[in-house]
Amino acid sequence: MQIKRIGINEAKTGMLVAEDVFNDGGQLLFPAEARLTEKAITRMRFHSIPFIKIYPEGSGTDINDGVDELSFFEKLRETEEYVAFNENFSEVASVFEKEMRVIIREGGNVTDSTTLSNGVKKILGTCRSGIQVFDLLHCTRTYDEVVFAHSLNVAIISAVLGGWLGFTTSEINTLIVCGIYHDIGKLKIPRKIIEKPEALTPEEYEIMKTHTTLGFKILEDMKLDKRVKYTALMHHERMDGSGYPLGIKGDKIDKLTRVVAIADVYEAMTAPRKYRKARCPFEAVKIFESNGLALYDTEYLLKFLEHITMCYMGYRVRLNDGTIGTIVYMNKQEESRPMIRVGNEYINLFRNPELYIEEIL
Ligand SMILES: [Fe+2]
Repeated sequence: MQIKRIGINEAKTGMLVAEDVFNDGGQLLFPAEARLTEKAITRMRFHSIPFIKIYPEGSGTDINDGVDELSFFEKLRETEEYVAFNENFSEVASVFEKEMRVIIREGGNVTDSTTLSNGVKKILGTCRSGIQVFDLLHCTRTYDEVVFAHSLNVAIISAVLGGWLGFTTSEINTLIVCGIYHDIGKLKIPRKIIEKPEALTPEEYEIMKTHTTLGFKILEDMKLDKRVKYTALMHHERMDGSGYPLGIKGDKIDKLTRVVAIADVYEAMTAPRKYRKARCPFEAVKIFESNGLALYDTEYLLKFLEHITMCYMGYRVRLNDGTIGTIVYMNKQEESRPMIRVGNEYINLFRNPELYIEEIL
């Protein structure tokens, strides 16, 4: 039986809901198999629920997760919010690119860090919640120049993570600027290395690593918060001292830099590149869970993973064996392995190690 995904603005009383609706915190707002009321619609709007799934009139009530229509992200691309997000993103990215190219070519100072950070805040302002930021980013990674798109994405993700960590507004503002300029040294690395689809040779990797010190040198004399300069230098340092260029560890790495380090790696793992598809967020979470706890600030990382996975509560996913189901419960012991509902049955991925989420639909 068919299921239709509709925007919350299209929701009407009496519609039969096909899937449980959860808020950001994983609380059930409205159960599947019940008819919408005016009060329920108001509540979902209050919680910024963008879409719900319903059974179209006359389609019966059988549960079937195989929805043959536009995917969630295809549908999201048709919304006004996406159009606004994408326009703001492209505008800020092109201002950023123009300014940086002038600085790299002719030297000089950053003239526009406030404009850029206000631009990032404007991009964030078009999103209603942390959930939406990640959904919209997933759709928007189309800006051609990898370094600029990556840097803006990292600024956006860092700001969201800073909010989840309870940072002050002033810290979040600085965090945005740290994200914007963290990889600026890459503009001095040969393009053929930056855009190389295959793994780098050891020599190329050594050259790539110098983007940290090169970035610091570009920013060193500019009128920027010193944490912005340190982030350019230290965002590849790791908590256990295994990073570069200095090999420093723990508290020696500034807390804003520790946030950017997580956002940077997450973005690099989940963004599509010319030569590979975007990695599923749950795969990135799995990688962080298996080898990230010693490398990144543990408290920040756990908070990040908890929130990221919660963003996908209620989403339809495909497992590696082809099963399609809906995420209904997060396992705190392993955030990458939630409970999935398939029709009337439940699969606990925590208890089924051979299965994992391959794609968010
Ligand atoms: Fe970097």
